[in-house]
Amino acid sequence: MATRIVTLPGDGIGPEIMAPAVELLRRLVADVEIEEHLFGGAAIDAHGTGLTDEVLGACRSADAVLLAAVGGPKWDTTDPSRPRPEQGLLGLRQGLGLYANLRPVRPLPALYDASPLRREIIEGTDLLVVRELTGGIYFGEKTRTADSATDVCTYSIAEIERIVRTGFAAARSKVASVDKANVLETSRLWREVVKRIHAEEFPNVELEHVLVDNAAMQLVAAPRHFDVIVTENMFGDILSDVAAMLTGSIGMLPSASLGDEADGGVGVFEPVHGSAPDIAGQGIANPLAMFLSVALLLRHGLDLESEAAAVESAVDKALDQGLRTRDLGGTANTAEATAAVFAGLA
Ligand code: NAD
Ligand code: IPM
Ligand code: MN
Repeated sequence: MATRIVTLPGDGIGPEIMAPAVELLRRLVADVEIEEHLFGGAAIDAHGTGLTDEVLGACRSADAVLLAAVGGPKWDTTDPSRPRPEQGLLGLRQGLGLYANLRPVRPLPALYDASPLRREIIEGTDLLVVRELTGGIYFGEKTRTADSATDVCTYSIAEIERIVRTGFAAARSKVASVDKANVLETSRLWREVVKRIHAEEFPNVELEHVLVDNAAMQLVAAPRHFDVIVTENMFGDILSDVAAMLTGSIGMLPSASLGDEADGGVGVFEPVHGSAPDIAGQGIANPLAMFLSVALLLRHGLDLESEAAAVESAVDKALDQGLRTRDLGGTANTAEATAAVFAGLA
């Protein structure tokens, strides 16, 4: 049977990095059917909503979903009655039950000197941000009156338990649970649940609780110290962009968003970065986070470990041989970066 991949190029640089990613998929997966759909701002322009029921349905019945990025100034609005591309992304995550967002941060030795941080700080860093993706302040009630606005942050015990289990299960040695338990009630509940799951199910994994402000500081001061960071939705969003700079650029960080088999078990794979409107249309976006997201799709979405490893090693090899896009201080454009990676595919 053919492997069915839904691709959602989205907006800005999205289509520019999706095209070579699809080419990469075609080279690595035999008998692959690619079904591309409008998503985000592009879908708002065509259908008035960032995510149509048809597209959500197509994603549900796919083997995996590859997403580039959504959003841009054209759809930026502070009027809550107007649709935003980002609502499409949140609707997709919620609609597929993708509560677990894995954001691996593995700075490559070839790029140690491309980061604004010193090599001695970065060396040996290999961490995983496990971000809760379908709860918290992103999905709470939002209200607006003439003179105030409210965003409600709620977490249930069940929502915390399942993401915390994902975090512990992914740990090689230790888990840093990041919260703001000195201030927030949701964080106090989070910490209680983490302690209980640790004691009952993962007593052999080392556990520490780190307040989110301190975690942001430790990520740039002593990133080697971390193995798995497990945290709630908004903290994970912010901390993963901070952590991206350890790899040299936000253009290097991939992600996998996963749910339970009971919800269909379809994963969405996408770079951590956005649609980069400031460089869109110039053909200079770094496609490596997108390629590394293809690797995660091969590994977690299709169970093709050796193909996933082949992509990662082709990326490593290209960087070792000097590939640098502009965000990494070089001059290579998207097409040149793509050619360099494809040349290294076994
Ligand atoms: P961004 O990640 O799009 O860009 C931040 C900076 O990083 C920009 O200077 C951009 O040029 C650069 N950058 C990002 N990706 C790059 C790449 N692959 N190669 C080279 N440079 C790259 O963040 P932003 O500017 O805050 O957001 C722009 C839009 O993207 C907003 O509408 C936002 O909501 C959206 N966004 C979408 C996603 C997503 O679809 N998953 C993620 C983040 C932001
Ligand atoms: C991300 C993005 C999204 C988020 C936005 C675009 C809704 O920043 O995937 O990190 O905040 O989750
Ligand atoms: Mn983000």
